[in-house]
Amino acid sequence: MITLDANALTNPLKEGTRTERTPEPCTMFIFGASGDLTRRKIMPSLFSLFKHRLLPAGFSVIGVSSTEWKTDDFRDAIKKALAEFVSPEAAQGPLWESFAQGLFYQTLDFRDAVSYAKLAALTQEVDQSRGTGGNHLIYLATPPSLIGDIVKNLGMVGLSKPVTPKNWTRIIIEKPFGRDYDSATQLNRTVNEYFKERQVYRIDHYLGKETVQNILVFRFANEIFEPIWNHNYIDHVQITAAETVGVEGRGAYYEEAGALRDMIQNHLLQVLSVACIEPPSSFAAESVRDEKIKVFRSIRPILPEQVGQFTVRGQYSEGVISGKRLIGYKDEPSVLKTSTTETYVACKFFIDNWRWAGVPFYVRSGKRLPKRVSEIAVTFKRIPHMLFSNTMADQHEQNVLSMRIQPDEGISLKFGAKLPGQTVRIRSVNMDFLYGSSFGSQSADAYERLILDCMLGDATLFIRNDSVEETWRLITPIHEGWKMQGDAEIPKYSAGTWGPPESDHLLERDGRKWRRL
Ligand code: BG6
Repeated sequence: MITLDANALTNPLKEGTRTERTPEPCTMFIFGASGDLTRRKIMPSLFSLFKHRLLPAGFSVIGVSSTEWKTDDFRDAIKKALAEFVSPEAAQGPLWESFAQGLFYQTLDFRDAVSYAKLAALTQEVDQSRGTGGNHLIYLATPPSLIGDIVKNLGMVGLSKPVTPKNWTRIIIEKPFGRDYDSATQLNRTVNEYFKERQVYRIDHYLGKETVQNILVFRFANEIFEPIWNHNYIDHVQITAAETVGVEGRGAYYEEAGALRDMIQNHLLQVLSVACIEPPSSFAAESVRDEKIKVFRSIRPILPEQVGQFTVRGQYSEGVISGKRLIGYKDEPSVLKTSTTETYVACKFFIDNWRWAGVPFYVRSGKRLPKRVSEIAVTFKRIPHMLFSNTMADQHEQNVLSMRIQPDEGISLKFGAKLPGQTVRIRSVNMDFLYGSSFGSQSADAYERLILDCMLGDATLFIRNDSVEETWRLITPIHEGWKMQGDAEIPKYSAGTWGPPESDHLLERDGRKWRRL
């Protein structure tokens, strides 16, 4: 167990530079205000920031959607959402009353340019009455097919530009950003026609997770790990995002997406890039993002004809998790009985650069797996010569450093130790750091961190236009390859198992195994 050096930590809120800054007053627009993301994530995060006094004075939200609501209906909907997703008490009392004062609503037909004029008028009113000074944060929590129309219409009524040279206007765009290389580049062109790239914040909530940010600190603030963080010492890396949930009522979206688009193109490639980047020249947004793009450019593309060798997909059929019988994917609401959408995917990537030459990166993600767990596990090469070969040392496992993204956030180092006794026998043991026991406090939700960063103008944890295109450049040929293979190929796995057997073969062919999690 790793314990915290109490002298090393003074007031955690005063640590670092970011928390010392408070955002300038601003108004935030949420497009998709009656949707699920607003209720589950965005509003609970804003409320938590408000409660911790991290929002600027007068902070206001203008909810925007096609639902015919008045401001009071919006406030009621948010009150219910906070009661459900934060706590029943959150939506009561003076704190809620004061938060609710800053919530406004505008019904809007996203595709109708005329209704944006009404939004512009309400914005002016709110900016004046609440003293938000004309700074604007636009959050697009809408289906991707609407993004083009929204940015265009915002541009038409002048809402894409800062009100004065002293003001700022920024836009957060949710994933999925495009559905392949061509649509993503086209979308970038449209967005960049109305918003300068420095105004655009493409969000990937995995980058806001405390544990993902800690990968950079772990690598670049500690003397002992960086020298061995390369192909000389590392045998291979496994990145896993396993979920027990199914598609949770999002069948229609998931049918269009599948696991490769939903998790690998964004979350897991982002995590991979953080684990692999070269030390940036500073911790400034552009320096970090410049290094990330180099990683994406160095990942060897999996060509359509290579998908059989480097990828595995699967779809869950009925099964049991925690004693509960669950239906198969094809029986989920809004899913076709003939669906061939993948709910599991595993890929083997190589990064063709000096640091990572020859090191395989096995990346997997799936729904309805036995356990919810996300981690990066780095397996080190075997020692060059084993001294203890006649003492069951053959069973000694390789050293593994695993960074647990969630749950049970922490870092664990596995190494061999002598089993007490008269003979030399080796047993693998773990040295563990757990956030919960070392720091005691719960990490803030990723959305809180990212929304605040955007208000502060810090784009480090957001995705730049070139990165999003590069990741699609890697993913699109895989989809093409699967199409060539034909859909009869899609293997099944029972809900509650670790994906199809083909996924094990991907590693077994290389003499390796997936970690048992
Ligand atoms: C979302 C995906 O981006 O991430 C979901 O669309 C997935 O399908 C979710 O369940 C996982 O996020 P987390 O934070 O629960 O690991």
